[in-house]
Amino acid sequence: MPYLEYILAMGNFEYSIEAHNLRKDFSVSESGKGMMGAVKALFSSKKRAVHAVESVSFSIKPGEFVGYVGENGAGKSTTIKILTGILVPTSGEAKVNGIIPYENRRANGMNIGVVFGQRTQLWWDLPVRETYEMLRHIYRIPQDTYADMMKKLSASLDLGPLMDMPVRKLSLGQRMRCDIAASLVHRPQVLFLDEPTIGLDVLAKENIRTFLKEMNRTEGTTIILTTHDMNDIEQLCKRLIILDKGRVIYDGATEDLKSRFVHDKIMEVEFHERVETLVGIPEVVVVSSSGNKMRLKFQNGNSGIADAISRLASLYSIKDISVREPSVESIIYSIYEKTTLLPKYKDKG
Ligand SMILES: Nc1ncnc2c1ncn2[C@@H]1O[C@H](COP(=O)(O)OP(=O)(O)OP(=O)(O)O)[C@@H](O)[C@H]1O
Ligand SMILES: [Mg+2]
Repeated sequence: MPYLEYILAMGNFEYSIEAHNLRKDFSVSESGKGMMGAVKALFSSKKRAVHAVESVSFSIKPGEFVGYVGENGAGKSTTIKILTGILVPTSGEAKVNGIIPYENRRANGMNIGVVFGQRTQLWWDLPVRETYEMLRHIYRIPQDTYADMMKKLSASLDLGPLMDMPVRKLSLGQRMRCDIAASLVHRPQVLFLDEPTIGLDVLAKENIRTFLKEMNRTEGTTIILTTHDMNDIEQLCKRLIILDKGRVIYDGATEDLKSRFVHDKIMEVEFHERVETLVGIPEVVVVSSSGNKMRLKFQNGNSGIADAISRLASLYSIKDISVREPSVESIIYSIYEKTTLLPKYKDKG
């Protein structure tokens, strides 16, 4: 990359990551049925276009921690690959810290860290520390800066006991900690995480979340996180971008999801005796009932729910009652199902 462009790229930008109408088509061979079909496809000229990413636009400011979610095949990894310079978009444009990643892969690489949870960037047969040493050379990190960073990473990701182990002997959780450290050795301003918690147990996930939260808070690292675990999103990401079939269908605060998309609250009620039907509380609908228990739906969002509960309690003898907030996961799934009801996002791009 020309020197001037590089210097300019090192300056401050309003946005860390920008995507404008990104589109990525893949051309795949038409495959017939079975093994023979797959073999024939290798020699066939019949091609079919897969629109992995149809139209994706967003801007992410420095220091943001953004969740990037969507069903399998929605186009998340393809977007990440464009932003990290691995893939060139069919059309549209992306910039990371002012650099076009797929045109300046090296310069972009200096500013970003990447973790693909499904793959490791560590040297399989060598002790973990060898990969870090190699990265120190690639990024030309001065020895003292490197030592400082390694000390910090080692302490917060508990790498000490792992440093001299060959990568192939690490457990998945240990390997992921080492991979995350490898993505950060050169102190990147932007970190791309594509399913970093996949397959990990609850405790390992929790440790990684704590580390990422801290990294984002203390270093101001901009983080874009792809995950199917909605606990990751709820605990880490103030902002959420939801992708469906290669298009953005939601981009906003994670917190706002509930108020924007959930208008019903579910109440679980246990009565002292069997209740056949409810009368006198029209805003509450019976969803199901079994024995002395009933599942009720309150249809006015939050307003008046306390009043409905107190009327319920005055009319019936209640043993126990709980009001359930729907999980972010259930909201997202209901959004996928109702994408046709979101004209604002459908019209975009
Ligand atoms: N190299 C490729 N060649 C052909 N098709 C591809 C290629 N890479 C991705 N695709 C297709 O593009 C679509 C989007 O894939 P992508 O990997 O971006 O999805 P994803 O949102 O990351 O899904 P997942 O949650 O399963 O990781 C899929 O239909 C996939 O089959
Ligand atoms: Mg993926």
